Amino acid sequence: MRNMEKFGLMSLPIFIILYLAFTIQVYVTLADNYVPTEKILLSCGGLPVTTDTDGRKWTTNVGSKYLSASGNSKTSKAAAQDPFVPKVPYLNARVFYSNFTYSIPIVAGRKFVRLYFNLASYAGLNPFDGVFSVTVGSYTLLKNFSAAQTAKAMNFAFLVKEYSINVDGATLNISFAPSTKAPKAYAFVNGIEIVSMPDIYSSTDGTLMIVGQKSPFYIGNSTALEKFYRLNVGGYPISPSHDTGLYKRWEDDLSYIYGVALGVSYSGYPNMMIQYPPSMPTYVAPLDVYSSARSMEPYPQINVNYNLTWVFLVDSRFSYLVRLHFCEIRSIITKINQVVFDIFLYNQTAESQADVIAWAGVELGAARQNGVSLYKDYVVIIPNGSPQQDMWLELHPNTVEKPTHYDVILNGVEIFKVNDSNGNLAGLNPISDVTNPIRARPSSSDGKIKSRKAIIIGGVSCGIVFVLVIGFLLIAASHRWHGKDSSARVVSLGWHQELERGFTKNLCRHFSFAEINTATKNFDEALLLGVGGFGKVYKGEIDGGATKVAMKCGNPQSDQGVHEFQIEIEMLSKLRHHHLVSLIGYCEENCKMILVYDYMSHGTLREHLYKTQKPPLP
Ligand SMILES: *[C@@H]1O[C@H](CO)[C@@H](O)[C@H](O)[C@H]1NC(C)=O
Ligand SMILES: *[C@@H]1O[C@H](CO)[C@@H](O)[C@H](O)[C@H]1NC(C)=O
Ligand SMILES: *[C@@H]1O[C@H](CO)[C@@H](O)[C@H](O)[C@H]1NC(C)=O
Ligand SMILES: *[C@@H]1O[C@H](CO)[C@@H](O)[C@H](O)[C@H]1NC(C)=O
Ligand SMILES: *[C@@H]1O[C@H](CO)[C@@H](O)[C@H](O)[C@H]1NC(C)=O
Ligand SMILES: *[C@@H]1O[C@H](CO)[C@@H](O)[C@H](O)[C@H]1NC(C)=O
Repeated sequence: MRNMEKFGLMSLPIFIILYLAFTIQVYVTLADNYVPTEKILLSCGGLPVTTDTDGRKWTTNVGSKYLSASGNSKTSKAAAQDPFVPKVPYLNARVFYSNFTYSIPIVAGRKFVRLYFNLASYAGLNPFDGVFSVTVGSYTLLKNFSAAQTAKAMNFAFLVKEYSINVDGATLNISFAPSTKAPKAYAFVNGIEIVSMPDIYSSTDGTLMIVGQKSPFYIGNSTALEKFYRLNVGGYPISPSHDTGLYKRWEDDLSYIYGVALGVSYSGYPNMMIQYPPSMPTYVAPLDVYSSARSMEPYPQINVNYNLTWVFLVDSRFSYLVRLHFCEIRSIITKINQVVFDIFLYNQTAESQADVIAWAGVELGAARQNGVSLYKDYVVIIPNGSPQQDMWLELHPNTVEKPTHYDVILNGVEIFKVNDSNGNLAGLNPISDVTNPIRARPSSSDGKIKSRKAIIIGGVSCGIVFVLVIGFLLIAASHRWHGKDSSARVVSLGWHQELERGFTKNLCRHFSFAEINTATKNFDEALLLGVGGFGKVYKGEIDGGATKVAMKCGNPQSDQGVHEFQIEIEMLSKLRHHHLVSLIGYCEENCKMILVYDYMSHGTLREHLYKTQKPPLP
């Protein structure tokens, strides 16, 4: 256990910074990027500027060879340009008043098709009249799609839709069709990206299994996929140009985690050289995905009592390909049966006794135990129900095998919707539901920049100074921690006092224990949200019910307190991370350290983040 505590500490940012230079060097020599034969970036509205914020060059399609002669369309600039929306390719759009096809000559094979939409008003049209479908060959990608309604429901400024489609012929036809149901309907698109790709998601050998059933599932040339989620678990977002030549965009996972049981995240782990097995092409996922991970905290009694959980909103009546990426990056985990866990998807067992070291052994023999990148695929069928449902991904330590540590690990997740028997991938437009904000979670979009920035700016006053204080404490704490192991407990008293000194009372709100007691109705178990590594989490109300809060009750005199504090430091040090912004105050009395957060009614941080000040659409 002592070792486990140590490597918990190693995840502190100071160590990440120290080792970053080294790890980057190692990585560059290992991963080969895919070199796509086709790499087409069409700025459909035509723009004078052609390089996007990621350094990629877009071609403007005004007078371009891809435009088919038929169809009534024109280019237009967005009526209002949100300062947080990148100009390329989002500033201008092509608006289609009737059916319109882009015919793009290509080499037959599988392609990533990415469609970019900026949810603005174009050519004086009402954004809510923009209702249309998009088809590629026999596949329907979007149907009765309202970008404005999607934007409103999700509070997103722009959307990227990504598909993987196999094209037989020498032309890829993308057709836009305004809805025939609405008289004033039109279609639009800001950007189209086509990137040829290797068959990295296909499975035709009968090994891909449907979760909860004993039958295999086949993903072959006739299957089209839509990316719903792609997360670098425990790590940072990865921009398209930092992917493996396939321009995949990876998000961080924090906003999908259920509750405040965040576990521990590791990134850029020192001296861990990551190796791709010979059977696995290096372009499947970048090293950044495998070099960061999330696991549970080093408390077996607590870990057996909860699942490390991510929640994903998906459309009902479709099958989903779920790809989980694994790589054991903790240097002390090198043997089979040290960490064994169960994986649940949609509340069914997808894998019992997952052992990343054992899987690595199968791939590489005894040559290597940790640092081996791996992935596992599962198919989840979401039955009929409400139009959208939550798919839970849950990891739980397996106790049956009596592993050394009751822990779990995950490095990355990709979730794809599989086309239905009619070749359809389109779902219904999301409906914003103010009473139930979790329903407003996005499927495959990343236009959240604005919301995130707005909130960070809002939180900065409380946050920045706190980070500075924490930075000082971090150095103090790491100095002490580096003494003898037995001195660890001293830190727990130490930080409490230093916090007292450094944490000026008016930076964040200070709550009295009496206030906390009232808010939680004397720590009523009915208000218990969950139990994490730090202790219990209660929900409650402050200011006479005006503000809903979640309270983490740590005990600074236990190891939990110290460890939790470190995690808090880690979170805060990554400025973009959301704990910074949702922490509204604290209480330290009766030997308790209670952190008070803005409460998100359904537990994930995401909807909290996206409940923004974005101006309503005209
Ligand atoms: C799938 O499509 C590719 C490219 O179009 C082709 O080379 C391959 O033979 C096809 N596979 C099967 C099983 O039809
Ligand atoms: C099309 O979308 C609109 C807005 O979401 C919805 O009201 C309507 O019922 C949909 N029509 C069909 C045929 O799905
Ligand atoms: C693509 O569209 C063009 C023009 O609309 C048409 O001539 C061609 O047959 C289409 N190709 C495919 C593969 O659908
Ligand atoms: C973990 O998730 C599974 C599947 O949903 C569930 O059966 C189990 O009770 C959960 N365990 C805990 C401790 O919450
Ligand atoms: C899965 O389990 C969670 C927690 O018990 C529950 O809230 C959720 O509704 C379940 N989902 C399904 C599809 O049964
Ligand atoms: C996906 O669509 C294709 C083309 O319409 C079809 O042949 C295939 O069976 C569909 N896949 C599934 C899983 O229904």
